[in-house]
Amino acid sequence: MVMLFSGLRHVSRAGLPRCVGGRMHRNMTSLPSHYTLPSGDKIPSVALGVWQAKPNEVGQAVKTALKAGYRHIDGAWIYRNEAEVGKALKDSGVPRKDVWITSKLWNTFHAPEDIEPALDDSLAKLGTEYLDLYLIHWPLAKKDGKPYDKDLTQNPYPTWQKLEEMAEKGKVRNIGVSNYSSSAHRLENLTANPLKFKPAVNQVEISYWVPQPELLKWSKENGLLLEAYSPLGSTGKVGDTLAVPEVVQIAQELGMTPAQVVISWHVQRGTVVLPKSVTPSRVVENLQVRALPPALFEKLEKAATSHKPYPRLNPSKSWGLDFDIFD
Ligand code: A2P
Repeated sequence: MVMLFSGLRHVSRAGLPRCVGGRMHRNMTSLPSHYTLPSGDKIPSVALGVWQAKPNEVGQAVKTALKAGYRHIDGAWIYRNEAEVGKALKDSGVPRKDVWITSKLWNTFHAPEDIEPALDDSLAKLGTEYLDLYLIHWPLAKKDGKPYDKDLTQNPYPTWQKLEEMAEKGKVRNIGVSNYSSSAHRLENLTANPLKFKPAVNQVEISYWVPQPELLKWSKENGLLLEAYSPLGSTGKVGDTLAVPEVVQIAQELGMTPAQVVISWHVQRGTVVLPKSVTPSRVVENLQVRALPPALFEKLEKAATSHKPYPRLNPSKSWGLDFDIFD
């Protein structure tokens, strides 16, 4: 396998709280607190996700998270909550340089001339002069009410070149993609171009129900970091996730909560994990992760990758596309 990406490493988990429940298990090793991207920047392995965090809730969640020790907030222009997130960041008093902020370029802004204004809008709302990471939110170039732009969708090189320019200008420190799954060919379409900066991450849906082992394997072989959104199964499946017998049993054995087991499993698989919560106690709980003993990790991995497939979030139909965005 050709190494398309390079430089991905992880560092030890010194910065995070250990665990609730107290009992440490034999064979316990620590999880990485950060991964190092090709730029040399260190991205924290656990973030607060703010997708579906409602107005008047998201700011408090961000403040709770920063107080609890989170240093990574994963947002997007389309979540329509960047101004409240930005105010919470400012009010928290945590220095800007200490927080990793991700945002995403929405589908309507893929044309090169639309990118800088869209980015500037996110920067202004977030109250920052730069993003740590800016992602192409979906592999789809489509303005509202218009057919999708076939050329730019099939080969987003012009979009990528503009993002590279934004990186050179210092408005973004790292650039990447999102929803470039389930197979790698979409990424390969992009990386076949003479890129100045390769995608630093790919953010996709990964959960117990949608474990994506092939994409994970491919990404590791190619040195590309995956970020897991909806890691608990999102609002619709979180209850089922936390009731999975293997999850419950591991939680009992280790004195952890089911959510902590699942979030730990994600990091142990080598992904960044983006649990969303606006409930203060859960925000705190979700940061307290630790390595599962190898046998228990394998047990959960096997359970996640051997059940029947579940449908994942796929907006192709609701966006009126005549193709599957994941094909
Ligand atoms: P809430 O935000 O009301 O606390 P995902 O991260 O997979 O998108 O899942 C988000 C859903 O999981 C939200 O409904 C969130 O609820 C819920 N959730 C987040 N953390 C926990 C937790 N530790 N225990 C139970 N539910 C949780």
